[in-house]
Amino acid sequence: MTNKIDRRKFLLAGSALGLTSGITENIKAKSTTVITGNIKPVVVSSYNGYTMKNGGKLNCVETAFKKITQGEDVLDALIAGVNIVELDPLDASVGYGGRPNAEGIVQLDSCCMHGPKKQAGGVGALEGVKTPSLVAKAVMESTDHHLITGKGAQNFAQNMGFKIEDDLNTEESRKMWLNWKRRIDPNHYLDPKKRSTAGHNAALEMIKEGLIPENEYYGTINCNGINSNGDLCGVTTTSGLAWKMPGRIGDSPILGAGLYVDGNHGAAGSTGRGEANLFGLCSYLVVEELRRGKHPKDAGMTALKRIKENTIELRLLNKRNLPNFNVNFYIIDKLGRYAGVAMYTKASNEDKNYAICTENGSKLVPVEPLLSGNAN
Ligand code: GLY
Repeated sequence: MTNKIDRRKFLLAGSALGLTSGITENIKAKSTTVITGNIKPVVVSSYNGYTMKNGGKLNCVETAFKKITQGEDVLDALIAGVNIVELDPLDASVGYGGRPNAEGIVQLDSCCMHGPKKQAGGVGALEGVKTPSLVAKAVMESTDHHLITGKGAQNFAQNMGFKIEDDLNTEESRKMWLNWKRRIDPNHYLDPKKRSTAGHNAALEMIKEGLIPENEYYGTINCNGINSNGDLCGVTTTSGLAWKMPGRIGDSPILGAGLYVDGNHGAAGSTGRGEANLFGLCSYLVVEELRRGKHPKDAGMTALKRIKENTIELRLLNKRNLPNFNVNFYIIDKLGRYAGVAMYTKASNEDKNYAICTENGSKLVPVEPLLSGNAN
C-alpha cells in the first residue's frame, strides 16, 4: 500500500484533522493546510516526541507536522519540533536537563540531514547550548564540514550567536548524577576497568530501583518527516549515554548511525544503545534497504538483525544469548510509508511505542519488534 493521494492542490482544513491527542485540537483550530504534492505528509519520532511539550500546547510531532503542512522547510519544521524536547527540563535524555557525563557535565550530540538539498551537519560533545540541533543545522549551513565536536563546537556556536550556558543540569539531573557518583566512586576511580563495570552496574541498579526510566539510559529523540512534495529530512538529538565517559560520542551525531537521509529513498534514525548502532552504521543500512525497494518495516528488521549478529561479546548478551540492550529505528520512505521497529517486544513504554503525526492528528503506535521478551 502506498500513501499516495490525488495530485491536486487542496485545502486540508482543520476539520479534517481527526485528532487522537487532545492537544492536537490546537492544530485543528488554527491551521489551514495547503498540500501541493501527491504524498501524504507524515512526521515520525521516538516516544518523547509525543509526550514532551515543555509547558506548551503542542508536542514535537504536532509542531513539525503543522509547520510542514503550512509549507515550511521540512528540516526547519522538524528542528522546531525537537527544540521543544531539548528545552523541556522533564526530558532527562535530551538537551537542557539531559543526563550529564561521569564528571557531571552535560555534553550533547546532534545531527541533521536535508534530503532535497543533500546537506548535513552535526555536533558532538557540545557543552552549554540547550539546542544542539540548531547548532548542527548551523554547521550544515555555515561551514564546509559535517561534524564539529567539543570545545571547537562550542566556540563555533558562540560565534554563531548561540547563548553559552554555564551548566545545562537541572536540580533533578544533578541529584541523579550525585546518586550515581556515590555508588561508583568509593575508590576514586583507581581502576578504569572496574570503573566502567561499576558505572554500568550502578546505572542498572538505579533503573531497577525506579530512579530513572530504562529508556533514559541511552535516551534520545530522532524525528523524521516528509511533505506532500516528497521532501524528506531528519534530525537526532541527545545527551547520550547517562553518566558516560567524558568525550564519549554515541551514534546520534554520526551520519549513517543515529540518522541517515537520502532524499531520493528515505530517512531513518535511532534511539537506544549507540555503540551497537555505530558499529554497523545501521541508519545507513536501513536507507540502503529502502533504496532496494524494501518496506520501512522490513528495512528496519534488516538493521536489527545485523545488530543481533554483531553482538557476540559476553558482556553484551543476556541469559538467552541475545543482546542485553534495546535499539529502535524510526523510518519513512519516499512514498511516505513509515515504521517504528525495536529489538524487543517487552520494553519500557518509551521503547515499545513511537510517535506519528498525520492529517488525522498525533498518536503513539506500537513498534514492530524483532525479538520476543525483553533485553534482560
Ligand atoms: N543513542 C544514544 C546514544 O547512545 O548516545
